[in-house]
Amino acid sequence: MIGHILHINHVSKHFGGNVAVSDISFSVDEKQIVGLIGPNGAGKTTLFNCITGFIHVTSGDIIFDNKKINKLRPDEVCRMGMARTWQRVKPLGSLTVLENVMIGAFSITNAAREAEEIAIEQLDSVGLTDYAKKTAGSLSIGLKKKLELARVLATRPKMLLLDEICGGLNHTETDGILVIIREVRNKGATIVFIEHDMKAVTAICDWIVVLNSGEKLAEGTPEDITKNPEVIAAYLGGGQNA
Ligand SMILES: Nc1ncnc2c1ncn2[C@@H]1O[C@H](COP(=O)(O)OP(=O)(O)OP(=O)(O)O)[C@@H](O)[C@H]1O
Ligand SMILES: [Mg+2]
Repeated sequence: MIGHILHINHVSKHFGGNVAVSDISFSVDEKQIVGLIGPNGAGKTTLFNCITGFIHVTSGDIIFDNKKINKLRPDEVCRMGMARTWQRVKPLGSLTVLENVMIGAFSITNAAREAEEIAIEQLDSVGLTDYAKKTAGSLSIGLKKKLELARVLATRPKMLLLDEICGGLNHTETDGILVIIREVRNKGATIVFIEHDMKAVTAICDWIVVLNSGEKLAEGTPEDITKNPEVIAAYLGGGQNA
């Protein structure tokens, strides 16, 4: 039976007087692709930062794989099988593409040879094998995003949080990333996907959660969400992100 792998339970995050995330609750089923959408400043990245331990919630609970992770550090959350990509990709530019992916693999092994094998496998899975020896800084933005995916896949995650992994890419590059994401899910991972491109979101997501000004505005299937009048008014109604 498929169960929930992640519960967000009445989570709030305040920065001084600024309520970035306000009483958000939702659950993510195993092996689903869940889209997290909403206007700029809605609280999407802040929620990712809370889930992955980079910041801690002001109130509420986050349960991953049946364990409360609210107070864990990023490395502890990562070792439980949760990986995230960054909205602004930041590979170590002077290291090679292979070495960057090996850094991901070192979170699950101390052996350099095994890390290299995992990295080679993941570079292949994202189509970057030919770039393995190039410096990461020399890659185009499209290839840097693939490198970012390979780096997190090298941690062998149960769950991936992708923060605008298609941001700044053209349609062909976006389609390439969507194919990889589907393959990752088909191999058994669960994915939460922050994305502004609604075509990409509706193409790939089983379920969508909509945030607006730190609050959950709606959740539902792509079909329901794209027809939801409140979502259309707040986000899809022809604004710059629609
Ligand atoms: N470290 C921080 N200190 C203070 N305020 C912050 C911090 N991080 C985020 N915020 C604020 O929290 C709110 C939510 O920001 P967040 O980056 O989570 O939005 P987002 O939904 O990811 O937006 P975008 O689509 O632009 O990436 C914003 O008002 C932002 O200014
Ligand atoms: Mg963001």
